Amino acid sequence: MSTGDILRRRDNLLGSNTPLFYDEPLHIVRGEGVHLYDADGRQYLDVYNNVPNVGHCNPRVVQALSRQAETLNIHTRYLHEAILDYGEALTATFADPLSMVMFTCTGSEANDLALRIARHTRPGKGIICSNETYHGNTTAVDELATLFNGGQAIGPNVKAVPYPDAYRPLDGLQGEELTQAYLLRIDQAIAEFEAEGIGLAGMLVCPIFANEGVPNVPQGYLQGAADRVRAHGGLLIFDEVQSGFARSGTMWGHEFAGVQPDIVTLGKPMGNGHPVAGLVSTPELVDSFREDIMYFNTFGGNPVSCEVAHEVLRVIQDEGLVAQVADVGQYLRDGLRALQERYELIGDVRGPGLFVGVELVNDRASKTPATAAARRVVNEMKEKGVLISKIGPGDNILKIRPPIIFSRSNADQLLNTLDEVLANE
Ligand SMILES: Cc1ncc(COP(=O)(O)O)c(C=O)c1O
Repeated sequence: MSTGDILRRRDNLLGSNTPLFYDEPLHIVRGEGVHLYDADGRQYLDVYNNVPNVGHCNPRVVQALSRQAETLNIHTRYLHEAILDYGEALTATFADPLSMVMFTCTGSEANDLALRIARHTRPGKGIICSNETYHGNTTAVDELATLFNGGQAIGPNVKAVPYPDAYRPLDGLQGEELTQAYLLRIDQAIAEFEAEGIGLAGMLVCPIFANEGVPNVPQGYLQGAADRVRAHGGLLIFDEVQSGFARSGTMWGHEFAGVQPDIVTLGKPMGNGHPVAGLVSTPELVDSFREDIMYFNTFGGNPVSCEVAHEVLRVIQDEGLVAQVADVGQYLRDGLRALQERYELIGDVRGPGLFVGVELVNDRASKTPATAAARRVVNEMKEKGVLISKIGPGDNILKIRPPIIFSRSNADQLLNTLDEVLANE
């Protein structure tokens, strides 16, 4: 079937504005490791997909899935050791007191649940988020989707504060003054919640600000935020749906950030493509929520999901992928900074581990977002067999976020292709 025919069927069936990548959409039919293959058998280097974290169709994960699917798949109101084995292995990777887990199927549900726990266990209802973010698609979480709402949080119980960014700093400030300026916005949000009688339940942010374009976060910002939120009785919730499972060159994004949260939400890479997600929190919070609320999630934490997620975790640990991400990520950023010296278009190279942002600007002094160039680069890279994407308020930050098995030689292919594409810009 031709691409045109598939597009027509898709529009008629799913709606004409259903999101699609690239000016000429790709018809992908197979994946293996860091590669994807289209319907014509063409190979692409996948430098975008963070869900198949340990590689597309990882054989160990596929085997774990089929083994358990052949035996039993059922909800979690019976006793089953798979959920306990995985839960213990997962929580062992967190510092105390983050020792309890609740399972869901999607990152959105995990964040929704985290909001419920915060609003149930704290006296206040207000949630602080960043002004350029996305945490999922349930009604409660959608109130925080400032990325699609012009920087505005929806509803009285949510307030957005400017995300911290040392490249495009608030009021042109630097250093400690910049940190304090961003923290002042949190103080103001808390004061407004209190004045409105809403009070504070917590702050929900990604510890690497992934959807904001992985900015360089001013020193001390996240710890300052944590201190302020807790001083007013709120919880610090880190959405690690993107930053977790070795992505940041540490097992967890909050280790990279050096700040301990009260709740961590998980998703995307957790099951390498199988829909399993959840949150990790403290006994105090999970128990006090569970005592009052009967939370049940039909598919969340079923034995197949737990076997799959457990195998993903084992692969990360057995193959030393945390160290590999740190190494290849640094190698990649070094290579991108070498390109930055040759191409004026590259204004900034940043990001932790294998979540790299390359900000394209029309000139380095004014930092005007090179939105059209970013679009051309992403499409041109695809034509040359390398899949990346773009992000950020100006849609001008190249988003480089491959499966974490990405090697130095994969990085070389990416760098050489980007060099060729930028030479034509
Ligand atoms: C940071 C973050 N949190 C949560 C979600 C929602 O996850 P899901 O699509 O699995 O519901 C996303 C999805 O893109 C995300 O980027």
